[in-house]
Amino acid sequence: MQKMWDQKFKEADFLYGEAPNAFIEENFERLEKAQSILCLGEGEGRNALFLAEQGIAHVEALDASFVALSKLRHYAKERYVFIAIRHTLLNYWNPQASLYDAIVCTYLHVPKTEQKILFEKSLSALKEKGFFIGEFFSKSQLQFKSGGPKEETLLYSIDDISQMLKTLPCTIHKLAQEIIMLNEGEKHQGEGSVIRVILEKNS
Ligand SMILES: C[S@@+](CC[C@H](N)C(=O)[O-])C[C@H]1O[C@@H](n2cnc3c(N)ncnc32)[C@H](O)[C@@H]1O
Repeated sequence: MQKMWDQKFKEADFLYGEAPNAFIEENFERLEKAQSILCLGEGEGRNALFLAEQGIAHVEALDASFVALSKLRHYAKERYVFIAIRHTLLNYWNPQASLYDAIVCTYLHVPKTEQKILFEKSLSALKEKGFFIGEFFSKSQLQFKSGGPKEETLLYSIDDISQMLKTLPCTIHKLAQEIIMLNEGEKHQGEGSVIRVILEKNS
């Protein structure tokens, strides 16, 4: 898996565009007071660079791809911002509890068992009242040609996510499947079916 992602990121720069994900940008008001934000599965760092440039004090990017993170390190230097880099797999990520004010996650596609781990670890790593904001392709994305995995097991469903969140300490502010127009680099172009999630960790 890591080799596959490294290979993709060697092909071109900003595969998913240079601008931050639109849903993250639209919801920046929930993030602006944060001191520390983790970007999970952050690839080349479009969200992390945006957040650091907005003045968030500590921005961290976690990803499985060494190639993507090397590029992010380079872009951060070019743009005079600091981003802490964490090269690991979601499965091996062992976050300290209550560390981050917010976590953002766009298009991190993993099998269902790992999707559960993603939400469990994220909610554990968030401080009370911290936000998780994410966007993922839904299982209906298989009908579209605008990007994302072709295996259904790597896609998300509202029912699965609702089930995963049932026992976790969070308030669901948004959990919706939407058809949107994607314009994110060469890999996400055209109409697509996404799931948008906003969670707040309960106190
Ligand atoms: C579709 S890209 C999205 C990158 C970035 N979030 C964005 O929206 O531009 C998916 C990213 O998830 C990373 N990834 C996939 N599986 C992972 C895992 N199990 N642990 C950590 N990162 C993973 C890949 O290396 C890749 O950078």
